[in-house]
Amino acid sequence: MNFVILMGSPRLTQNTAELCKPFMEEIKANGSEVRYITLADKKIAPCKGCYSCQNVNREYGCPQKDDMYLIVDEIIKADCIVLATPIYSWYCTAEMKAVLDRHYGLNKFYGSARGSLWEGKKVAILATHGYEREYAVQPFEMGIKRLCEHSGLNYAGLYSVRDEHDLPSFQTPEAIGGAKAFARSLLENYN
Ligand SMILES: Cc1cc2nc3c(=O)[nH]c(=O)nc-3n(C[C@H](O)[C@H](O)[C@H](O)COP(=O)(O)O)c2cc1C
Repeated sequence: MNFVILMGSPRLTQNTAELCKPFMEEIKANGSEVRYITLADKKIAPCKGCYSCQNVNREYGCPQKDDMYLIVDEIIKADCIVLATPIYSWYCTAEMKAVLDRHYGLNKFYGSARGSLWEGKKVAILATHGYEREYAVQPFEMGIKRLCEHSGLNYAGLYSVRDEHDLPSFQTPEAIGGAKAFARSLLENYN
């Protein structure tokens, strides 16, 4: 099983990045592949809503030729797409929202083109947040569940840890063990 982690925090070495480490270790320890991609150092413009991608068959088809093409290649290669993000204003970061909006060319629903470039893939969430879990993550999780329904993707679940004392919150045995257990649950469901 191939994983791609899209890491959406603008802080490349802090809480969300820290939570990704044990998750990735466990995936690799089980013989699966994982690609880790940070979004904050990529050039990914917001979707312009031009709908050009909807008239291009079998290709992504976005006229904005930026790093979203690299992300699309990784998504197409992966069996499971992991959205790793801090919760910002009850949703994901702007870096990740740009990627989510730019998913449009992976679906062909609204023009002359037909077919999907990503149907059937799994999507999972790794999140960090300052508020209590349910209150903090529920809107983002709901949005991703609906995106999955809309796009024919399989929503595979969420693991999150609350930021109580900055980085050390993500270095506890509980946080590390939880991230590893989540990785195993994704691998088990797949096999
Ligand atoms: C601009 C901004 C908005 C935030 N909004 C929320 C929020 O809506 N809910 C929440 O629980 N935490 C919120 N937080 C806290 C972060 O989600 C939390 O500190 C996270 O662990 C930071 O991850 P990072 O170190 O990877 O950037 C916010 C933080 C920032 C900087």
